[in-house]
Amino acid sequence: MKQRKPVALANWKMAMTIGETRAFVRVFWPRVQDVADRVDIILCPPCTAIHALSQAVAGLPLWVGAHDIHPGPGEAHTGAVSAELVADAGARWVMVGHWEVRRRYGEDDEWVRAKIQSALAAELRPILLIGEEAQIRDHDPQILRGRLRRVFEGIHGDDVARMVIVYEPEWAIGRKEPAPLDTVAAGCATIREFISETWGQRSADAVRIIYGGSVRPEFAPRLLHVPDIDGLGAGRKGRDPQAFADIVHLVAEHLG
Ligand code: PGA
Repeated sequence: MKQRKPVALANWKMAMTIGETRAFVRVFWPRVQDVADRVDIILCPPCTAIHALSQAVAGLPLWVGAHDIHPGPGEAHTGAVSAELVADAGARWVMVGHWEVRRRYGEDDEWVRAKIQSALAAELRPILLIGEEAQIRDHDPQILRGRLRRVFEGIHGDDVARMVIVYEPEWAIGRKEPAPLDTVAAGCATIREFISETWGQRSADAVRIIYGGSVRPEFAPRLLHVPDIDGLGAGRKGRDPQAFADIVHLVAEHLG
């Protein structure tokens, strides 16, 4: 039986000032408060607004997440932030493995794993973004499984169970439309199968797997019919308070 709480994730990317962050919450909260207990709503602002956002949502059932962390060790990493620093600013979740970060810094799967371990050590909950690279224009189970194996090597099944995993092929980011439904279904199924085979059915039943990549409210209903999907993640529409509130409502209606 499915008992997973659905997730709606907003990745604000390199946008949203502190003033815009506060304005977002003022518009967004009244529009989602009727369903907020049925959905884990995770807002990921840029680092500069994590503290302001965590103050603006204090006492509300809205989660704050960070975009990225540097796994260290040590402090000699000018320009980077650690899991401890984003947790101190108010983040409870952190995204790792986003294609834009991987490309910018040439990161490999082992480095993404180091970020997961560092997040867990600081008691942050990782949100792993994973999918095929842009050259592969479809779901490729072998490639995705290889990546999952490297990213998760040595990670405990109980930690995996508490994570959110976003199936997000690189080529589906920043487009007019999301990936085709059969690609989304196959990608999400590969992830859950891999988790079941590696750590057993209990972890596979618990982990939330959502889809990201050009999500907009008008595409949400059909994406949410994909078997086994536990929610949606949005970039551009995640920082539009009305559009993201619509996405949250659709997630609650279909899965909550
Ligand atoms: P998009 O971004 O919704 O604007 O395509 C998604 C993402 O990069 O996570």
